[in-house]
Amino acid sequence: MTQAFTTHSKIKTAILISGRGSNMVALLNAAQNVDCATNYALVISNVSNVEGLQKAAEFGVETLCIDHKQFATREAFEQAVQTELEARGIELVVLSGFMRVLTPWFISRWKNKLINIHPALLPAFPGLHTHKRALEAGVKHHGATVHFVDEGVDTGEIIAQFAVPVFKNDTEESLSKRVLNAEHMLFPFAVQQISVQLQHKK
Ligand code: GAR
Repeated sequence: MTQAFTTHSKIKTAILISGRGSNMVALLNAAQNVDCATNYALVISNVSNVEGLQKAAEFGVETLCIDHKQFATREAFEQAVQTELEARGIELVVLSGFMRVLTPWFISRWKNKLINIHPALLPAFPGLHTHKRALEAGVKHHGATVHFVDEGVDTGEIIAQFAVPVFKNDTEESLSKRVLNAEHMLFPFAVQQISVQLQHKK
């Protein structure tokens, strides 16, 4: 039997983005399901006027742009983000195409409550340009990983992965599309899993 969660018991979650926001849309779509244990209360972008902010607003989610360029240091930017998260009682932070490295100051505040999606099968291909590097390496499988964020670059504990095949005639474009599709299925599944765990710890 499935259990429906009241909004009250759902995990109050913020999504951090930097651009297009297609993974964010997958999360917000999944949250329409009554059994979703996550309540997306806030979307923050560190870049102004991005497509993702517009899409989040269409879902009726509160949006904020906190432009990192307006801050002298990484920590000052993160302190501004932290203030907004605390003001809303956010319990879980999801990085969804958020393209800024976070400092240990922020990461330590969100230990086991800060999740990222990465377009590769970690520990293979951490960092940037994962599809190009996967093609160059000649791997037969590539994919996506959802993981907790720790102080390293894409080194945190793995929550879930989705593998896709790499075909001989793949281009960076064809491969990135296949991986992105996988991300859209994987991310809601993984965030649900963590939200349910957090609910049980409440
Ligand atoms: C996604 O492929 C995500 O995995 C990647 O950026 C893309 C964002 O797309 N994230 C990273 O590379 C993080 N280092 P989206 O804005 O359409 O979700």
